Amino acid sequence: MRHLMSPLDLSVEELNSILDLASDIEKHPDKYAHVCDDKRLATLFYEPSTRTRLSFEAAMMNLGGKVLGFSSADSSSASKGESVADTIRVVSCYADICAMRHPKEGAPLVASMASSIPVINAGDGGHQHPTQTLTDLLTIRSLKGRLDNITIGLCGDLKFGRTVHSLIEALVRYPNVRFILISPEELRIPSYIREDVLIKNNIDFQEVERLEDALPDLDILYMTRVQKERFFNEEDYVRMKDFYILDKQKMKLAKEDMYILHPLPRVNEISTEVDSDPRAAYFRQVQYGVYVRMALILTLLEVKLPC
Ligand code: NCD
Repeated sequence: MRHLMSPLDLSVEELNSILDLASDIEKHPDKYAHVCDDKRLATLFYEPSTRTRLSFEAAMMNLGGKVLGFSSADSSSASKGESVADTIRVVSCYADICAMRHPKEGAPLVASMASSIPVINAGDGGHQHPTQTLTDLLTIRSLKGRLDNITIGLCGDLKFGRTVHSLIEALVRYPNVRFILISPEELRIPSYIREDVLIKNNIDFQEVERLEDALPDLDILYMTRVQKERFFNEEDYVRMKDFYILDKQKMKLAKEDMYILHPLPRVNEISTEVDSDPRAAYFRQVQYGVYVRMALILTLLEVKLPC
């Protein structure tokens, strides 16, 4: 049985075949409309979410399957003190696959060890978010036609932003990807990513503070919000929250064929005036998230695919 905790759980071949399947689903959705008619997905969300939970649910419904679950720790037995290991043992009796989001790093991994159904990490604290990464990879590949030979700028809260950690782990496995890491000093990427992922793999990367300096070089700009819920005090958050604001003026520095991605939710870091720029791809990205989660569910459940 397979689980998905980080993009490293998938080989590059497996990543590519999930993206290929997602692209086929995009082209021929009808073909897949009943392949999971007898399957159930449980969404166990101990932390807020709009896109991830709903896109998992939409993905399973598009495949003909059913969904059940909870959307906050307060409405589950976690509020009575139940462990994730016990919860997943119980949920294994109700569902065939589960997506779990939890504020504690490693909680979905603990659950997977006690589970008799595949567990997908839908975000664990400030650690990893592999299905957002699949979404990001599909978006980049669909818009640019490739995942190699790109310069990507990751901007904002690189310290607590789990989507950034997962995306770097996935992209370093494609040839000639250059990273420009744009953040304030206090929100630089964690050393386990810098040392163990970038330096160890001999990856070309730079760390800068000014977005304006990086913009002209980029093929992809990946904006992120400052992760308010991971700060220890409100004062630090308030000081950091408007550090970057991408607006029309700054977009003049970017290439004509650069695309802006954002995992969403957006707070202030992209001005709404940028939304009408053809290079703004963050709402298209949401749609790719549904296709890729459909492909992931089919892969982990080893569903026989229609020809
Ligand atoms: C991200 C997350 O939860 O890490 N959101 C999402 O899943 N699309 C990004 C964020 O919350 O900033």
